[in-house]
Amino acid sequence: MTLAGKHIVLGISGGIAAYKTPFLVRQLVQNGAEVETVLTRSAAEFVTPTTLAALTGRPPRSALFDIEAEAAMGHIELARWADTLVIAPATAHTIGRLAAGLADDLLTTLALATPAPLFLAPAMNQQMWAHVAVQENIRALRARGVGIIGPDAGEQACGDVGPGRMSEPETIIDHLQTLHAQKPLEGKLTGRKIVITAGPTREPIDPVRYISNHSSGKQGYAMAAAARAAGAEVVLISGPTRLETPAGVRRVDVESATDMMKATQAELEQTDVFIGVAAVADYRPAEPKDRKIKRESSGDISIEMTMNPDIIRSVAESAARPTVVVGFAAETNDAIQHARDKRLRKGLDLIVVNDVSRKDIGFNTDENAATLISDDKEVTLSKQSKDSLAGAIVEAIVELLGES
Ligand code: C5P
Repeated sequence: MTLAGKHIVLGISGGIAAYKTPFLVRQLVQNGAEVETVLTRSAAEFVTPTTLAALTGRPPRSALFDIEAEAAMGHIELARWADTLVIAPATAHTIGRLAAGLADDLLTTLALATPAPLFLAPAMNQQMWAHVAVQENIRALRARGVGIIGPDAGEQACGDVGPGRMSEPETIIDHLQTLHAQKPLEGKLTGRKIVITAGPTREPIDPVRYISNHSSGKQGYAMAAAARAAGAEVVLISGPTRLETPAGVRRVDVESATDMMKATQAELEQTDVFIGVAAVADYRPAEPKDRKIKRESSGDISIEMTMNPDIIRSVAESAARPTVVVGFAAETNDAIQHARDKRLRKGLDLIVVNDVSRKDIGFNTDENAATLISDDKEVTLSKQSKDSLAGAIVEAIVELLGES
């Protein structure tokens, strides 16, 4: 009963995958959840309200202006009742409405009115899923913190093969369990100050050019959100990213490693935990030019590079050393051994190592797998969302603070 007592609002939009929703509802109920279903106008073409009512014990809702349903529980009340809003299947049209912030039916109104986390399980033809309009909407929703589950690839109802199948009910339930499993961390970091570096750095070559890397900042931002959810005061020192600042987090924007170092030092006083997630450039051009370098008529040029400061090492060696210092290691070979050495060399309490030679995790992806190495433990976490991995790392930090 991993979802015992949780209030789940399941939104169903009108795609063929809606036929799977009774199975999803059944499993939610079996896991102890209370479920309200909300259908878009076309969803009822694919799944009957009678089936859903029988499984949830509550009549499904659809219209925004249904006097009887509103009298039982107003739509704002329903929005507040929800611990989670899941839309499965989420069609291209509903994804578009959500991305645009429209509220032209009960489901989209709820999505705007609820403070609860929103998850979408997209389902559509593979060509539609690949369309730039859909992908841009998904990107925008993700940046706002919406969880996107799937879609899976495979044979589709229309005969096409490719990504666009709605994730199986088990996978959707897994995501919800992970979300609610993080709740025990609530309040565990109250009164603690946590400083996190995230994203890439940019090292200027001249006024228009720089050297940088592929870090998206996602893992660092997920760490900031998880630490905040556990009650910490969080300062996020961020290189340039396209991400939204997690709610309740103070963000300090920087560009170069030198700026990141200065911002970090300015925040160290009274800091309990420092987490270095940033992909800091190891070297920078020794003398960035004040004017744009012009193309020579012939011949190559070279740029002399000088070493950047090691921010995390300076934090670990500082007189104002936080109680817990956590580093990340992106490795391409002998990951564990390199990370063990790095942890000791840099004086860290915990190092989170991932294998960036794998294309499906790490840089610029939404998922990550990692091994957590501390003085007395090595724990391997399988591939999961960066958010859920962040929750597991925060849990390890809470444990280390407890031991100190
Ligand atoms: O040595 P490497 O760059 O692999 O170490 C990675 C860890 O060190 C990360 O936690 C990263 O944020 C931190 N780091 C740093 N300053 C640097 C280089 C890396 O804080 N100049």
